[in-house]
Amino acid sequence: MEIKQLKDINKSHLNSLIEVVALLVEVKVRTTKTEKQYADLILQDASKKVEAKCWEYQENKNLFDSLLDTPVVKIKALVGEYQGQIQLTVKDICILETSEDMMAGLIPTSDWGLDTLQKGLQYFYEKVETPHLKTLLDKLIFNEDYYEKFITYPAARQVHHNFYHGLLQHVLEVLKFAFTIATTKKLTKRQQERLIVMAFLHDWAKIFEYKPLPNIGFTDEGTMLGHIFLGAHMALNTMDEITGFDQDDKLIILNGILGHHGKLEYGSPVLPKTVEAQILHHADCVSGDIESILSFMEEQENEEDSFTGKLWNMGTDYYKKGRY
Ligand SMILES: [Fe+2]
Ligand SMILES: [Fe+2]
Repeated sequence: MEIKQLKDINKSHLNSLIEVVALLVEVKVRTTKTEKQYADLILQDASKKVEAKCWEYQENKNLFDSLLDTPVVKIKALVGEYQGQIQLTVKDICILETSEDMMAGLIPTSDWGLDTLQKGLQYFYEKVETPHLKTLLDKLIFNEDYYEKFITYPAARQVHHNFYHGLLQHVLEVLKFAFTIATTKKLTKRQQERLIVMAFLHDWAKIFEYKPLPNIGFTDEGTMLGHIFLGAHMALNTMDEITGFDQDDKLIILNGILGHHGKLEYGSPVLPKTVEAQILHHADCVSGDIESILSFMEEQENEEDSFTGKLWNMGTDYYKKGRY
């Protein structure tokens, strides 16, 4: 049976053979207890990511050895289920010639539209009036060496905003949520400006941490250093180049970047030490968590059950029937 999109595969297909075209975004070669090699695969298209197993790794070794970057593959597979999620067992796999159009149709993209996203960025940029804070944004965000990456990269490898323009959409969401809290709680103008700068920069270094889509891996720099350190390090270097950068602004913005994951066990080396940093952390969670729930529900909307499978980052399943 030919399937148009990965999200169309549902439990009614269990134990049947399907055929689908998708990006092969990850291949991990593993060994069974009996020393047989197999491959864990992740397939992706614009609708969803699906895990697959290829037990005939040896028979397909030539194909796997010849893979470059992220190929488009056509697979025949048996539909199964593992821990409530669809899992495929590959029966046949071949690499397809790729055109740009084909790639564009397979990579998920923000549905906000680039124009709207960029207008949003501009709106918040214009709220920053203090010269050294504006210069910091000019040097890091609106700099031709980085801007293209900043507006195209995903915000995460899996979990949330893992699509084209995902980082930009996430940053804009964080700016909106953070600014709403800041104005509701009547923070001073300077606090609001610092919060905007922190929100702009908090995940900015993901442009160094991740490989560009359609790849979904980390760069060596990202694996070794991570976006929190990289972001704070580059922000500090840039602040030091700006004459007369205010010392309090420096400490507060750096603490915001370093503390935005909110807890030491979530990868932040320090806790948020200002009200701005705490707001940033909450706004970041709201943006990431809600997006992960919405996209998870959408991926599973074609399945009959009342509840989704368990969303691992939230630790629970979600009720789907109320979505109307
Ligand atoms: Fe982050
Ligand atoms: Fe973030």
